[in-house]
Amino acid sequence: MTPPPFSLPRRSLVLAGAAAALLPLRQAVAQTAAAGGDWLQMVQAQHALVAKSFDKLLASGNATYTTRDQLVHALAYQLTAHSVAEENVLYPAIAMAGMVNESDKLYLDQAHAKVMNAQLEMQSRLKDKGNWQEAARALQAAVLQHAKEDEEARLYPQLQARLSPGENALLTQNFMREFRTVGLRRMTG
Ligand SMILES: [Fe+2]
Repeated sequence: MTPPPFSLPRRSLVLAGAAAALLPLRQAVAQTAAAGGDWLQMVQAQHALVAKSFDKLLASGNATYTTRDQLVHALAYQLTAHSVAEENVLYPAIAMAGMVNESDKLYLDQAHAKVMNAQLEMQSRLKDKGNWQEAARALQAAVLQHAKEDEEARLYPQLQARLSPGENALLTQNFMREFRTVGLRRMTG
């Protein structure tokens, strides 16, 4: 039996779902730190996990409504936690390094992605009528272009090159701290 379209799940289930969705992203940060990696490697690892979550969702074509709903929400938790850590630490650093227009564009792209994410959540709740695959593919294209082409291939390496080793080390610490706290806020707020 499928739940009514706009019923709210129990709080304990929401918290468990959020914790499970964020666990791989937390582990990626911890493992990268343990191996002596920096903020850019942490971000790359998280991007790869988000890309996997898109693949999993898009491969769930015939899954039950409940399974798809869980995959949509897991993806949303991951995108939120990752994006807020970037918006609070990395985009300000890009602006402070003299790339103000580039930083502005990253914020704007991420705001658009949040709208697209909300569209996906709405479409996935409409069941028979909703075209959630189309919404998921549009969000996937926007997020991966932003992550791979704009951030990983261009702006993050430029930021890293403009900072001293000490500044990069501080950015790594700040990214870790922010991701940890944004995950907590998301789960307890
Ligand atoms: Fe990113």
